[in-house]
Amino acid sequence: MARAEDVAIGFVGAGVLGSGLALALSAAGWRVTAIASRTYASAEGAARLIEGCSVLESAQQVADACDLVFLTTPDSAISEVAGTVNWARDQGVTHCCGAASTELLASAEDAGAAVGAMHPFQTFAAIDVPGQAADRLQGVTFAISATGWLEEFLPTLAQSLGGQAIEIPAEMRPLYHASAVLSCGYLSTLLDAAVGLWTSMGFTEDDGVRAAVPLARATIDAIERQGPASAVTGPVVRGDADTLAAHLELLARHAAHLLPLYRQLTESSLHLARAKGIEERQLDQMRRTIGGSD
Ligand SMILES: NC(=O)c1ccc[n+]([C@@H]2O[C@H](COP(=O)([O-])OP(=O)(O)OC[C@H]3O[C@@H](n4cnc5c(N)ncnc54)[C@H](OP(=O)(O)O)[C@@H]3O)[C@@H](O)[C@H]2O)c1
Repeated sequence: MARAEDVAIGFVGAGVLGSGLALALSAAGWRVTAIASRTYASAEGAARLIEGCSVLESAQQVADACDLVFLTTPDSAISEVAGTVNWARDQGVTHCCGAASTELLASAEDAGAAVGAMHPFQTFAAIDVPGQAADRLQGVTFAISATGWLEEFLPTLAQSLGGQAIEIPAEMRPLYHASAVLSCGYLSTLLDAAVGLWTSMGFTEDDGVRAAVPLARATIDAIERQGPASAVTGPVVRGDADTLAAHLELLARHAAHLLPLYRQLTESSLHLARAKGIEERQLDQMRRTIGGSD
């Protein structure tokens, strides 16, 4: 294998993550030498930001030109693309999917390649240019599963981005990914519900977003400083069943579809209330309040 600093890195799939990761690795001093994508223009758009990076026509050409190939296509295409390439023995092949491990690269592994999964615990939603994605990759946690020389090399790449490399056993990856979905996708779902209540009160969605985002951001800051248990506020951690009852009554009238979600979140907050010293008697009262009929 080449010395770490000489490893030629290529990408297949110049989307938001592939372009951003290629740019971030290049900026960190790695040799990103080739990019291909389904559409030539996508690959060209990423390659022109990276010195010494060529646009190639196919995954096979990238594999022939590089020591390590990142397959950064959508998850559904990873196995298929991997299966179209004649991989060299000891060549590195890696994807960035969160839910799956290296089984997506079975064809490459069968050919003797070292395989890896390197998933950034980060979102690339609402990215306009690859530079923004590259910035978002700084300092994040990467879940890594790998074989051969990639076992050592992929953590080195993650650390070069200021990131934390953690090893997740293959069978635990869906659980790890569920945590990502709760931290990101379902956080959006929750704020969509919060903003929806503003429209129920006759305001616009923009009004709701303007109100909710600073509150959510301050909560995230508090969680970062002191952890979720310290940051949680509201009626549950005050043991205030009357306010919960008032919420449920108005939700039933104006946003009944949110009642199950509200009840479940309240239920899921009771252990935090207990940790904050709320008495069993008050916890029972709150349990009875949320258990009432719609
Ligand atoms: N987006 C996120 O927030 C995020 C977060 C963590 C991990 N990831 C992971 O990152 C990987 C890439 O996701 P993404 O969000 O960057 O997807 P994306 O923006 O949709 O980009 C995928 C790229 O692959 C190209 N492509 C599609 N099919 C292809 C094929 N058969 N051969 C070659 N190129 C093909 C696409 O086409 P064109 O060439 O036509 O543009 C596009 O440029 C996924 O494994 C995903 O799970 C994403």
